Amino acid sequence: MTSPEIATAVEHARRANVTMVIGESDAGKTTLVTALAEALATRGLAVGVVDADLGQSEIGPPTTIGLGRVRGPLARLADAEVVALHFVGATSPAGNLPATLGGMRKMLDRARDAGLDRVLIDTTGLIAGELGRVLKQAKIELADPDLVVCLERAGECEHIVRPYRQLARPVVLRLPIPGAARSRGPEERRRYRQGRLQAYFASARSVALDLERIVLRGPAGEEVASAEAAGGGFDSALVGLEDRARDTLGLAVVRRMDAEKGTLHVDTPVPEERIAVVRIGRETSPE
Ligand SMILES: Nc1ncnc2c1ncn2[C@@H]1O[C@H](COP(=O)(O)OP(=O)(O)O)[C@@H](O)[C@H]1O
Ligand SMILES: [Mg+2]
Repeated sequence: MTSPEIATAVEHARRANVTMVIGESDAGKTTLVTALAEALATRGLAVGVVDADLGQSEIGPPTTIGLGRVRGPLARLADAEVVALHFVGATSPAGNLPATLGGMRKMLDRARDAGLDRVLIDTTGLIAGELGRVLKQAKIELADPDLVVCLERAGECEHIVRPYRQLARPVVLRLPIPGAARSRGPEERRRYRQGRLQAYFASARSVALDLERIVLRGPAGEEVASAEAAGGGFDSALVGLEDRARDTLGLAVVRRMDAEKGTLHVDTPVPEERIAVVRIGRETSPE
């Protein structure tokens, strides 16, 4: 992308409270979101980024949607200050649509509560086919962005934004994929995800949670009887930890359930005192 194109995107995003960037994997979405966040913050605006890419996460670890605040120039989006997280429990929205959409909406509400006046939404590269269309159109309906920026080579986003052509909002801005954008294969993406999770757990400690005092919930939020969970191969599960308000505090890895003592042993960097809910996801630990 040339600088006139970035300048055009900045001009549009400057007038939009909520901007969503879509495009396939490696289209340059995160790079553009980072450039926009810096440019808007430098103009004195309170800028938030909702990182709705569950796998190639920058804000918060993989399996979460993160809300970050950007106050000025930053080397990479991962340097944004984390304001809130929402544990989705998976590294792909496929098969996890309600949790992904609900989490994105929750982070947008948090951005509004935090008084952020410009919010940029970074998204997964899942745009192809029916699933891509349904996912992205649902995101647009729920987030109600003022602006959607499509990074595309040959109209890949067209099937998603077509219905908005006659409508007043969102404004749709189409930009070419930057020549410098570099494709990463599935293996490189997997390594990135694992690396981010390992870095997250680098400061983890072992914690014994009292099952009498925590609520155990499944991926859709349903309560799980602990005996049932213990019988269900719960060891090594990657779980989300929530406080009493059901806000995500962070992640943990389940080590074992001690049914006799009524304790659940987990590794986590989250302070033990605030943990009120353990939410089971669909992934296992990074090792
Ligand atoms: N404008 C650009 N200039 C230089 N490199 C870029 C540019 N846009 C993307 N890249 C590079 O291409 C790769 C993919 O970009 P990224 O922003 O991560 O894409 P996406 O978020 O759409 O998957 C990264 O290695 C990134 O550094
Ligand atoms: Mg990205």
